Amino acid sequence: MMQETLKHAAAMAQHAVVATPETIALAARHLRAGDLVAFPTETVYGLAANAFDASAVEKIFAAKRRPRSCPLIVHIADAHDAHRVVRVWPDSAELLAREFWPGPLTMVLPRNEAIPTLVSGGLDTVGVRLPEHPVARELIREAGVPLAAPSANEFMQLSPTAASHVARSLGNRVAMILDGGNSHAGIESTVVAISEQGEVTLLRPGAISRARIEHVLGAKVPDAHWDKQGSAPSPGMHDRHYAPRTPLRLVSRQSPLPDGPGALISLGTPRPGLPEGLTEIVLGASPEVYAQGLYAALHSVDHPPHKWIALEAPPQQAAWEAVNDRLRRAESR
Ligand code: TXA
Ligand code: MG
Repeated sequence: MMQETLKHAAAMAQHAVVATPETIALAARHLRAGDLVAFPTETVYGLAANAFDASAVEKIFAAKRRPRSCPLIVHIADAHDAHRVVRVWPDSAELLAREFWPGPLTMVLPRNEAIPTLVSGGLDTVGVRLPEHPVARELIREAGVPLAAPSANEFMQLSPTAASHVARSLGNRVAMILDGGNSHAGIESTVVAISEQGEVTLLRPGAISRARIEHVLGAKVPDAHWDKQGSAPSPGMHDRHYAPRTPLRLVSRQSPLPDGPGALISLGTPRPGLPEGLTEIVLGASPEVYAQGLYAALHSVDHPPHKWIALEAPPQQAAWEAVNDRLRRAESR
């Protein structure tokens, strides 16, 4: 009977279901059966599989069309489960976990052998994160295993901050999509690498600023080094990433806009004298509020008749590091 229900759900193209104790329990059963579930986190929606089950994790790469060299983040529900994922726990990891977990910080540490190498793109390290979103935590607890989960979008495409974004792109490739509302942070977690000796470097700027991490550690957090082969320190950090399908360019308030139908995403206030017929979305002028609305704004204009998207570039300031990182990648072709 249960098997039948599970099969039926997996065979249909999925619309999101509102997260309730019942739907979360069903999603957890899908995960234990080796199927994929999309779920909300406070950063972006994730596409989850049982992190201990290599054949389930395999389905993530297939669904996203993601190269197997791009490592996944493993999500846990309680800090004391970190040892199921990583092999060492330096003092700096403890400090950062105490300050920022649950929350949008991913720590890359030497991998526990229980985690298949497929999860970590063949690397000896693995990213671990304890999300803050109550639905995410309930789902992980119910599943009873850590969940490997990248953002729930096709490789190199825009990250989803709402269940509807997931349904549109991966809807027929997952057993279930749990709807837990709009992702509050709206931008991915900050990813740091921590060496066995406890040195912390930055792999990906994100929802927690570098300055806050440096403040907690009482030390500078430099960018992670590129290795000798010249591949990125964080495989998966391709230049073209987080990108809409519609060509996007960064502009200033004074820049003339391209011809034809398009969308302008303005910073803080509407642009005076905007030509008739263009779409305009105004995003908040603080990095946090801006990040919250960025992907949703891009999703909402990334379709015909828009032939271009122009984005008013935020200032090149430390507080805007994560937003500017995503915008640079979204613009790169
Ligand atoms: O906010 C987030 O982090 C979201 C939610 C779902 O948790 N997840 C997310 O996953 O953004 P994903 O796969 O889209 O990006 C994870 C990035 C990888 O592209 C890679 O750059 C880095 O984290 N990463 C993960 N494991 C790593 C490892 N072992 N070594 C280096 N970088 C790693
Ligand atoms: Mg992603």
